[in-house]
Amino acid sequence: MSPLNVVVGITGGIAAYKAVGVVRALVLAGHDVHVVPTEGALRFVGRPTLEAISRNPVHADLYEGVAEVRHVAIGQAADLIVIAPATANTIAKLATGLADDLLGNTVLASEAPLVIAPAMHTEMWRHPATQANIATLRSRGVTIVGPAVGQLTGADSGPGRMEEPDVIVAAALERAAASARHDLAGRRVVVTAGGTREPLDPVRFLGNRSSGKQGVAIAEAARARGAAVTLIAANLEVGEPAGCDVRRVSTALELQQAVTEAARGADVVVMAAAVADYRPAGVSESKIKKDAGDGGLTLELVRNPDILAGLGHAPHDGTLLVGFAAETESDDERLLDLGRAKREAKGADFLVVNRVGWTEGFAADENRVVVVGRSGDVVARAHGTKMSVADDILDVVVSELATAAAAADPTEEHESR
Ligand code: CTP
Repeated sequence: MSPLNVVVGITGGIAAYKAVGVVRALVLAGHDVHVVPTEGALRFVGRPTLEAISRNPVHADLYEGVAEVRHVAIGQAADLIVIAPATANTIAKLATGLADDLLGNTVLASEAPLVIAPAMHTEMWRHPATQANIATLRSRGVTIVGPAVGQLTGADSGPGRMEEPDVIVAAALERAAASARHDLAGRRVVVTAGGTREPLDPVRFLGNRSSGKQGVAIAEAARARGAAVTLIAANLEVGEPAGCDVRRVSTALELQQAVTEAARGADVVVMAAAVADYRPAGVSESKIKKDAGDGGLTLELVRNPDILAGLGHAPHDGTLLVGFAAETESDDERLLDLGRAKREAKGADFLVVNRVGWTEGFAADENRVVVVGRSGDVVARAHGTKMSVADDILDVVVSELATAAAAADPTEEHESR
């Protein structure tokens, strides 16, 4: 990655001492780092420390450097802004757009991606005011990293601890890279995520353990790369991503209807949702009573449509289909063969093969996948955070779209970005 101009905002929380690690990691990665601490932050870490580590002068005062219009110049020059730690107070100010200090002005004067790492006590994090502010920031496309769950400043522990510096830096650089790429601009991408639920009666359903994390990461990454994204969300256990057209569904049949509609004219459909293969033959209008069975209870299930195969076997000119395969097979070669067979059977262009198990895959933050292409070849292997795996999958998509565009119009020069 070419060197970026990174502004690191540090606000007044005890985790400010850990922000030194964020600055250092960015500097060591070759970036030009400008620290903008709030007055509160300077009570926790000294300016000389920040200047030495960032290798740049540190300004905190709105009324210093007025002649060079510093209150907007720092933000205008930034390629990326990272605020770590972000206190509840700063989050509230950012959500309202307050600019009563240099950091507030810097953020408002910038069009760069903003990544914040909240840090506060659990009660403050859970407070509806903070949660509403976080939702506002998310809806504006701000990337929120953490908070982590763990020991807080006092004897208490819970969610509120600032994420570790390496996690913050990795997320921030991923975000900056995605914004810089913009290689899905003008494309329409449909992503399904989560797991379907098939009702048995008004209070029960048959479901699966998919959290929706990987699908949501793909939607977020595609959005950051400039695509117009429709996310078909089936019972997500994670927050909905910003800037996407989200359509909530619950059952396989609802998902089928939503994705079939959204897929019309789309450039890419990514079927990351875990779709139930069967649903109860009938849904009881009232709660099924314990004594409905004779000591045991037999459920009659009927097959759900295979949605991906339906899309793959219908004409889908110009729409790239990416399926997922969740497999418990432990042998790598056999896992790959299952993926190849599944891709073929479903008529998908690519299949992302993903090993799942009692502890692997579902709610985890990390993933390891292999992407199989039309020839059965492995076109990519990816492992890491679900966001970085999402970007690796989208790299395959982008290069395929470029190849298809070049084949459709050989006279034009197409970048294989
Ligand atoms: N899928 C689908 N409709 C279904 C089942 C699965 O569209 N009724 C999609 C999933 O979204 C995924 C791919 O097909 O992209 C493979 O899903 P998976 O559960 O691995 O495979 P199944 O087809 O259900 O096959 P099996 O459970 O027998 O492995």
